[in-house]
Amino acid sequence: MKGAFIAFEGPDGSGKSTMVRMISNYFKDNNIDFIQTREPGGTRIGEDIRRILLDNRNKGMIPETEALLYAASRGQHLREKILPAIEEGKVVLCDRFLLSSLAYQGVGRGLGIEEVMMINDFAIKGIRPDLTLFFHVDPTTTLIRKTNKKGGDRLEREGDSFHKIVYEGYMELIKTYSDNVIIVDATKSKEEVFEETKIQINNFLKRRGII
Ligand code: TYD
Repeated sequence: MKGAFIAFEGPDGSGKSTMVRMISNYFKDNNIDFIQTREPGGTRIGEDIRRILLDNRNKGMIPETEALLYAASRGQHLREKILPAIEEGKVVLCDRFLLSSLAYQGVGRGLGIEEVMMINDFAIKGIRPDLTLFFHVDPTTTLIRKTNKKGGDRLEREGDSFHKIVYEGYMELIKTYSDNVIIVDATKSKEEVFEETKIQINNFLKRRGII
């Protein structure tokens, strides 16, 4: 039987990476066959691309280069790692996927959702996650979380107005592309967010006959 592809999406500081980790541990404890991966990255080539993208020295990167590099990393990731894992019956837990590019590059960088969709479709041939969990936090909450954290990569160091536009982009996108997207209230405590995430994933896996 085939596996399933679950993407975790949300703004910087939404806590989605923590949830990916917690769900991985939960899967391990319950003998669910899975892989944990992330974007940009996930493969050796993708991780090389990630370094270029997040390098604070690359301040001069134009939005088009940025969008193409994210799409390149995604194409490689899908073909080399995600699709084979699904074929082997594994559940793929992926930290960020297509929606991130539509929100950050399409809306945040102003390239346009359609344009960014087009270059991504060249890379991933219309393949979509079976389930996307969107970790919803408003920019005020992420701002507080961010101020408690030092440094940050090239994208994290973008100003608050950029992250506010990305947030609005995400809100627009989850209305338009609402198929297979579930919104999780990520302003709650870590334990509560984990409980909700677990329920949603278990329901999905049951529907797919995986558990
Ligand atoms: P990520 O490692 O998920 O950062 P974090 O765990 O802090 O959320 O992603 C790195 C950065 O790349 C993040 O700021 C979001 C950005 N990004 C895009 O702009 N477009 C994309 O397509 C992806 C996948 C990520």
